[in-house]
Amino acid sequence: MNKVEASAPGKLMLFGEHSVVYGYPSIVTAVGQRIFVEVQEKNDDKFSVIAPEQGVDDYTKSIAHLGDDSVPRAVVFLEFLYKRFIEQYPKACGVQVTTRSEFSSQFGFGSSSAVTVAFAKALSELFEIKITKNELFQLCYKTVIDVQNIGSGFDLASAIWGGTIYYVKPAKIVQYLTSEEPPLVVGYTGIKADTTRLVRMVEQEKKNNPMKITKIFEEITRIVELAKTEIIAQNWLQVGRLMTENQLLLEELGVSSPELQTLIQASNSAGAFGAKLSGAGGGDCMIAVSSAITKSTIERNIEKANGQVLRVHTNAVGTKLERVHDL
Ligand code: MEV
Repeated sequence: MNKVEASAPGKLMLFGEHSVVYGYPSIVTAVGQRIFVEVQEKNDDKFSVIAPEQGVDDYTKSIAHLGDDSVPRAVVFLEFLYKRFIEQYPKACGVQVTTRSEFSSQFGFGSSSAVTVAFAKALSELFEIKITKNELFQLCYKTVIDVQNIGSGFDLASAIWGGTIYYVKPAKIVQYLTSEEPPLVVGYTGIKADTTRLVRMVEQEKKNNPMKITKIFEEITRIVELAKTEIIAQNWLQVGRLMTENQLLLEELGVSSPELQTLIQASNSAGAFGAKLSGAGGGDCMIAVSSAITKSTIERNIEKANGQVLRVHTNAVGTKLERVHDL
């Protein structure tokens, strides 16, 4: 019986949140903190999970009943992924799944996407199935839609491809932009964003006020295109300024929050090139573009403003095989 471990990185949205859901482009970078998923074949027909960071000691379900009844939140992406996987590749058997995370699921780094991708990668390695990045994406994207019914899949693409990518859903365009790490300071508000609520809110607003929201999305898209050019040129001063412009549009969209604004202002007054919320809004993290000189002052100001600084590397590698044990 073989045992395989794969990993996938978390992410930070740099430009284009919300509009990306409607087919407009976005830019996302993978972070250095990863989620690891180990999978071992078993001689039974059971799907079992140990996920210590999620408080799951030993969750077991028969493979024939995957997705049935109410599935606990902590294992829902894993369970639906395995259901999809064995529909597509019917040679699967019982598995023991163990997860380990280098970041809290509270930060908005995309822990659900990273765990889904790392599990899919581990399964393809365990069962020696040749699978392209695009096929991996499609499998994971179906799972995310099964579970939450919405999402652009940008976080899955980031977990799969890594780096800093220009993304149009559903992985219609994935383009690497730079080999350099975007120089970011990340401030966590301490508040968990409710992504589904915010996406639904924007959806409702788009129904009520289509002209206004479409205009905001088109403006965001103009910024995404400019940011793409500036990231390729590694012109971080301009990238920062464009983040500030993107933030103003997100405020107009109604997805910012007082806590995010406070940390953004704290960064800008400490000399950041620019700053914005990252992700759905309403909480989670903000990002600021810094120079080597301003970085520590920005970090200190974020902490003085009651934010938590999360030290991350950006432009991290995408999902990869970590270990194979021939038992
Ligand atoms: C959430 O991190 C980003 C959104 O654009 C939703 C999505 O792209 O799925 C708000």
